[in-house]
Amino acid sequence: MNPLLANKILIKRLRSANSTNDAAINILKNQENIDWIIADEQLNGRGRRGNIWTSPLGGLYASVVISDDKIEYSHLSQLSILSSVVAAKTIEEIIGKNLIRSKWPNDIFLAEKKLCGILIESVFIENKFYVIVGFGINVKFTNEQNQAKFSYLQEISDKVSVEKCFNKLILNFNKIINIWDYGKSFTRFKNYWLMLTQDHGRIIKVRIKNILIEGVFENIDDHGNLILRVGGKKEIINTGEIFS
Ligand code: BTN
Repeated sequence: MNPLLANKILIKRLRSANSTNDAAINILKNQENIDWIIADEQLNGRGRRGNIWTSPLGGLYASVVISDDKIEYSHLSQLSILSSVVAAKTIEEIIGKNLIRSKWPNDIFLAEKKLCGILIESVFIENKFYVIVGFGINVKFTNEQNQAKFSYLQEISDKVSVEKCFNKLILNFNKIINIWDYGKSFTRFKNYWLMLTQDHGRIIKVRIKNILIEGVFENIDDHGNLILRVGGKKEIINTGEIFS
C-alpha cells in the first residue's frame, strides 16, 4: 500500500518538547514509527535559518514525518509549497477565506503579521530518507510573543482550539499529499499558493544566508523554487526568506 494513503495515523502527544521536529527525529533514530507529534509547548522551538520559534502554551506545534520510499530530496521545494497550502487550507477552514496571505517560501500572514511558520528538515537514518515538516501556528494570544510581529487565529475566531486546528491539519495534509501524487498535481497547489500571495510581480527582498537580494517575484517554478528577476537576469532561488 502507498504509505501516503495509510489510514492508521500514529500520533504522539507531549505536554512539552524541546522541539517537535527534534522529538520526531529522535523517535526515528530509536527505530520507532511515528506519523505526527504534537506538543502543548516547546522549550527550544526552532525556526528557519536558525531562528528561535517562541512556543508558549496556546499555540500549535506539530511535526509530521514523511517516510515514503518514493519521496526524494528533489521533492523538498515542492513539499515546502505544499505544506504551506496545507496550513493555508486549515487556517481558512477556521477563520474563513480572503484573510490570509502566503509569503515565500512557506509563511502565512494575517493582517501583515506572521500567523504560521513551517520548518522542513530531511534526515537519512539507517540509509532511509525522511522528511519532517514542522508547523507552528499561533492559535491563542500570548504575551510571550512579539505582538507587533505575530497574529493569532483567536483574533478572528474566539472559539478556536489547538485540537480542532490539529485535526484539520492532519486531514488536509493527507488529502493534499495524496492529490499531489509525488508532483503530478503540483501545478494546482502552486497556483493556489500564488493566488494567496501579494508578492507576485512585485519587488521583494530575499535573504539567502546573510545576503539580501532584491528583485521582482516573477513566479514559482515547477520544482517549487522562486524565480526572481534581478536586473535582466533570472535567479532561481530554492531557499531564503522574503523580507518585505
Ligand atoms: C519559521 O517560520 O521560521 C519556521 C517556524 C517553525 C516552527 C515549528 S513549531 C513545530 C516545529 N518544531 C520546531 O522546533 N519548529 C517547527
